Amino acid sequence: MSATVAAQNAAEAHAAAQPTMKAIVQEGRGSADVLHVMDVPRPELLDGRVLVRIHAASVNALDWHTVHGGRLMDIVGSVMRMKQAPVRGVDLAGTVEAVGKDVTRFKPGDEVFGSAPGTFAEFASAREDRLALKPASLTFEEAASMGVAGYTALQGLRDIAGLKPGQRVLVYGAGGGVGTFAVQIAKALGAHVTAVTGPRNVELVRGLGPDAVLEHGRDDVARRPERYDVVFDVAAVRSLSHLRRVLAPGGILVLVGADKRGGAAIFTRIISALVRSRVLKQRVKFFVAKNDLSDLLVLRGLVEEGKLRPAIDRTFPFDRAAEAVRYVGTGQARAKVVITM
Ligand SMILES: NC(=O)c1ccc[n+]([C@@H]2O[C@H](COP(=O)([O-])OP(=O)(O)OC[C@H]3O[C@@H](n4cnc5c(N)ncnc54)[C@H](OP(=O)(O)O)[C@@H]3O)[C@@H](O)[C@H]2O)c1
Repeated sequence: MSATVAAQNAAEAHAAAQPTMKAIVQEGRGSADVLHVMDVPRPELLDGRVLVRIHAASVNALDWHTVHGGRLMDIVGSVMRMKQAPVRGVDLAGTVEAVGKDVTRFKPGDEVFGSAPGTFAEFASAREDRLALKPASLTFEEAASMGVAGYTALQGLRDIAGLKPGQRVLVYGAGGGVGTFAVQIAKALGAHVTAVTGPRNVELVRGLGPDAVLEHGRDDVARRPERYDVVFDVAAVRSLSHLRRVLAPGGILVLVGADKRGGAAIFTRIISALVRSRVLKQRVKFFVAKNDLSDLLVLRGLVEEGKLRPAIDRTFPFDRAAEAVRYVGTGQARAKVVITM
């Protein structure tokens, strides 16, 4: 037997020995119809990695964009150095199945939450520093909601906007995944919070504890007298000049959301923000949130202090993951949408 054939046989034997799992696999791009439940090899246990048995994974706008494809994903992918992986999902909550060499913070059986590549699956392999112990007060579904949306709200308000106690912040688009975290985190940072949301979400958003709630479509913020130190734009449905009009002197506009019209409109908004900040020296910033262990622990701390509780709209069983992604793509989901295993 030649060395090549022997190596091939060894690889096939290894693949055959490797246990499989169910996962939501993306085959192609274009719509959520490309998502299918398939049997795939279970992730191997690598050094420094934690194998998590997933109980819940939340859906982000990112998952919808990844499934639909296009230039936005190519750019976000290169900024975040994302590897192309066919299994969707990045947020998770579950139980530690096994830990690789050098993992010190977790042991089998621990209940954890955080992020990993390919979380719409029975198992995912997570870097140790992408996970934290799940707060006992949260369900797996709630804990699975915290990753991307929590990081985005926390980093956008605290680091990009530099939000300080007593400052006034306007969260535009408060009823979605990021928005529901932003309202609670802005309150936790000691700000005076005005939340703008649609009529469907007014009651939900009011329950998150903002100081004031406005309805988009009915209350035009630019025509009101209030001015804000920070405008946190999740919705991306108003022009930058419209949003800047409600800033107090020295205030900052933070762009979080991607323009709902997609394609060129997304780039125009980002480029317009860059020109305004770099050339016109206006306080307008666009940012992309990052995984960060210390921030994951901050989010957990806020939950434990009773200042943060993820809000969940709908939970979908694993085999209806495509429906969950499609629903998030409508932009009409209330708070977070979660897939359960
Ligand atoms: N920059 C980053 O790092 C980062 C990270 C995560 C997400 N994002 C982006 O942030 C956005 C929100 O993400 P998500 O996960 O929170 O999605 P989501 O849960 O689907 O939220 C959709 C958002 O759009 C708003 N919206 C929809 N239609 C609207 C309308 N006609 N007028 C005003 N607001 C409208 C909703 O506000 P109401 O419910 O209050 O109406 C809600 O805030 C997406 O564009 C996503 O790509 C950016």
